[in-house]
Amino acid sequence: MSTLADMSQRSSQPHRQLPSIPFLKQILRPVPFSLNGVERRLRQAHTIDDLRRIAKRRIPTGPFEYVDGAADDEVTAERNRQAYLDLVFTPAALQNVSRVDTSVEVLGSRLPQPFGFAPTGFTRMMHTAGEQAVWRAASRAGIPYTLSSFGTTHYDELAATGDPSRLWFQLYLLRDFQKNLSLLDQLRESGCTTLVITVDTAVPGNRVRDLRNGMTFPPQLTPKTFINASVRPEWWFNLLTTEPLSFAYGDGSFSRSALTDLIDPEVTWDDVANIREAWKGSLIIKGIQSAADARTAVGLGADAIVLSNHGGRQLDRSAAPLHTLPSVVQELQGESTIMIDSGVRSGADIVGALALGADYVLLGRAYLYGLMAAGQAGVDHAIGILRAEVQRTMALLGVASVRELNAQHVSAVSPE
Ligand code: FNR
Repeated sequence: MSTLADMSQRSSQPHRQLPSIPFLKQILRPVPFSLNGVERRLRQAHTIDDLRRIAKRRIPTGPFEYVDGAADDEVTAERNRQAYLDLVFTPAALQNVSRVDTSVEVLGSRLPQPFGFAPTGFTRMMHTAGEQAVWRAASRAGIPYTLSSFGTTHYDELAATGDPSRLWFQLYLLRDFQKNLSLLDQLRESGCTTLVITVDTAVPGNRVRDLRNGMTFPPQLTPKTFINASVRPEWWFNLLTTEPLSFAYGDGSFSRSALTDLIDPEVTWDDVANIREAWKGSLIIKGIQSAADARTAVGLGADAIVLSNHGGRQLDRSAAPLHTLPSVVQELQGESTIMIDSGVRSGADIVGALALGADYVLLGRAYLYGLMAAGQAGVDHAIGILRAEVQRTMALLGVASVRELNAQHVSAVSPE
C-alpha cells in the first residue's frame, strides 16, 4: 500500500515522452558559419573588453602593451576604471522611452552620439590601416576623431576623405611659436576647425610595461619578439608588406627622438594665450586635472576643456577625472563645454559622466582595441557596442534625451 509520501513524490515526477520533432526543429539551430574571419571574430565581441581580449590574442605583446599599459604603478589607470565601476544609477520608472535621442550639441554642431575619439599616436603600429580605418569608422558614425600630432598619417590625407569639421587636430605646443603657427596655417587651409592642445605632457610618462618589453619604435625582430610573432603572423606580415611606419609630423622618422622633439617642457600658459590669439577656430584644452586649471584655461578663451589624465599614462597617482568632474562643473557654472576622458569603456560609463555634468565624452583605448582586433570593422563594431549601450542605459534610466540626464540619476562613491 502506498503511503501519502510515496504518492506526493510520484506526482512531482514529470511525465516523460519521446522528443517532439517540431519542437526539436524549433530549438536545433546550427551555428551559422562564416568564411569571413573578421566576421567570425567580431561575432564573439559583445563588449569593449571582449574586443580587448581578441586584440591581445592577435597583436604582438609590445604594441598591445603599449596601448593597454599606463605609467609607473598604473594606480591612476586602475582608479580611472574604478571611478566608473563605483557609479550607482537611480532609474526613474515608467517614463516614455520609446524614442531615445542620444544626440548632443557640442561647439555649435549637433553630434549623433555623446562620445567621440581622443587622439592616440602611433596608430599604424596597432594596425596597418591605422588612422584611415579609425577616421572612416568615425565618419560613418558622424562622430569626431582627433588626429594626434604623433599620428602616422597626415591630416590632409584624412581630410580628403571626409568632413574636416569632424576631424580635430591635437597639438603639443612648442615654445618656438613660428613652428606652431606654420602648422596652424596648414591646418586652417586643410579645413580644420577644431584644435586640441594637450597640456599634461611636459615630459613623456614612465611606461614600465614598455621598458620591460624592450619596446622600440618601430618594434624590432629580436629572438623574443620573433617567438611572439610566430603566433601572430598577420600583424608582422602587414608591417613588412605595407608602407614603412613614420610620423606624419616632426622630422618624419619613426623614433623616440622624433617624439621628444615634439614635446617641449618650457611651454607655459602664455603659449596657450598666444595660440588663442592666432587660432580663430574652436580651441579645446586637454589634460585639465583641477578646477583651478579649468578656470585658467577658460579665462584664456578655451571653448572647451577635457578633464583627462591621459588614460593614466602620464602622472601616476593623479585623480580620476570622474572624481574631479563635480568640482569643475561647480567652478565653471556652464561657462564652457566640459569634456572628459580616461577609463571610459562602456555606454554606461558615458551616461554616468553625462549625468554628473560632462557635456561630451572621449575614448582612447576603446577604439584602439577595436582597431587591433579587426581593423576598420573592429572600430565600427566598438562604435556599435557603445552606441547600443548608451541608448539602452538611457532607456533603463527612464531618460529620453541627453538633456534630461542629471545628478539625480547617478551617485558616485566618493574616494574620501
Ligand atoms: C594616448 N593619448 C594621447 N593623448 C594625446 O593628447 N596625444 C597623443 O598622442 C596620445 N597618444 C595616446 C596613445 C595611446 C596608445 C593611448 C592609449 C592614449 C591619451 C588619449 O588621448 C586619452 O586621453 C586616453 O586614451 C583616455 O583614456 P582611455 O579612454 O584610453 O582610458
